[in-house]
Amino acid sequence: MKIRAAVLEEFGAPLEVQEVELAEPKAGEVLVRLVACGVCHTDLYTASGADPSGYAPTVLGHEGAGVVERAGDGVASVAPGDHVVTLFSPQCRECIHCRSPRTNLCLAIREQQNRGYLPDGTTRLSRDGEQIRHFLGTSTFAEYTVMPEIALAKVDPEASLEHAALFACGLSTGLGAAMNTAAVEAGSTCVVFGAGMVGLGAVAGCRLRGAERIVAVDLSEDRLELARGQGATETIAGGPDVVDRILELTGGFGADYTFEATGRVDVMRQAVESARMGWGLCTIAGVAGKGETLDIVPRYLITGRRVCGSSFGGVKGRDQVPELVRLALDGRLDVRPFVSHTLTLDEVNRGFELMEAQDGIRSVISFQ
Ligand SMILES: NC(=O)c1ccc[n+]([C@@H]2O[C@H](COP(=O)([O-])OP(=O)(O)OC[C@H]3O[C@@H](n4cnc5c(N)ncnc54)[C@H](O)[C@@H]3O)[C@@H](O)[C@H]2O)c1
Ligand SMILES: [Zn+2]
Ligand SMILES: [Zn+2]
Repeated sequence: MKIRAAVLEEFGAPLEVQEVELAEPKAGEVLVRLVACGVCHTDLYTASGADPSGYAPTVLGHEGAGVVERAGDGVASVAPGDHVVTLFSPQCRECIHCRSPRTNLCLAIREQQNRGYLPDGTTRLSRDGEQIRHFLGTSTFAEYTVMPEIALAKVDPEASLEHAALFACGLSTGLGAAMNTAAVEAGSTCVVFGAGMVGLGAVAGCRLRGAERIVAVDLSEDRLELARGQGATETIAGGPDVVDRILELTGGFGADYTFEATGRVDVMRQAVESARMGWGLCTIAGVAGKGETLDIVPRYLITGRRVCGSSFGGVKGRDQVPELVRLALDGRLDVRPFVSHTLTLDEVNRGFELMEAQDGIRSVISFQ
């Protein structure tokens, strides 16, 4: 079928919205009609050429939500009409990682997905016979996409798909960092560095776990205001003296849990140094630039602090994204403040501009 999609033709150049060919889903694959898709840093990172593993031409987009249109042979977990969130982090439920509760890093299709192919090593996207690769196995800057069944989370049809799209990446990453990776204990003190989509999700996750104090740190007063809306009890402007400020606020000890959601290695270091002696756990969700390293004075570790990373919040997508969406439906999580701009597919490059200007938390493309 012919569909309209935003194609990355050349690194550093604007995406080109155009007609491309999308083939029918093969066995284990599903055709999804997109209803909404967030515009995220990872799309821009690849579009800019900064991502060393990037490829072109490809259809970008990974924060999608939509409706199942057709299912290929053998697909059992979703059916036409189902509402789904796209997962760049799939869950096959069979590989050694999926069978362990300790990680969400499914191994089933990693290699082909990283190279821009569907699991059988081919693409469904093409133009005049030339193949176009599938970005992150999702390619959701498009009216329709074909995706592996294991990369779709079936969500409650009551949920707005515009809101559900937020759970495809940043929001679940932040929520999961607090709720899964750190598994924050009730009554604890938490510090969240960065109040973008990921950090705001972490603030909400700390609140939902019953944290007593949640300190949000950011450079933007507007974002700190949003953090207060998600449950931050205190806010601090970011800067070189933040660790001292946090030690002052915590009787000289530091916080039980710290979270880093800026992608800056100097802030990651602050997050480590703000964690409490004895048992403080620092969870890193930000993605640093290529080749950057994190400096930690080993004494911080010897004296009982721990550091861990979190990819997609440790969320096992098919099982847990529906539960996270439920939080919004049940009124326990207010996602409305996160949708700052609604755009058409043709305005996708405007989404990148808004993001670079830090205008709002998320621009969401609406396909209706
Ligand atoms: N681990 C994962 O699976 C995953 C998933 C999505 C995004 N990410 C990464 O998470 C990070 C955050 O993503 P986002 O969408 O929230 O980004 P964002 O740019 O919207 O938010 C980052 C925030 O950090 C703040 N900041 C910058 N410097 C600071 C400082 N010195 N002190 C305090 N705050 C500071 C900015 O003001 C901004 O509000 C990025 O690095 C992104 O690549 C990781
Ligand atoms: Zn994303
Ligand atoms: Zn798996």
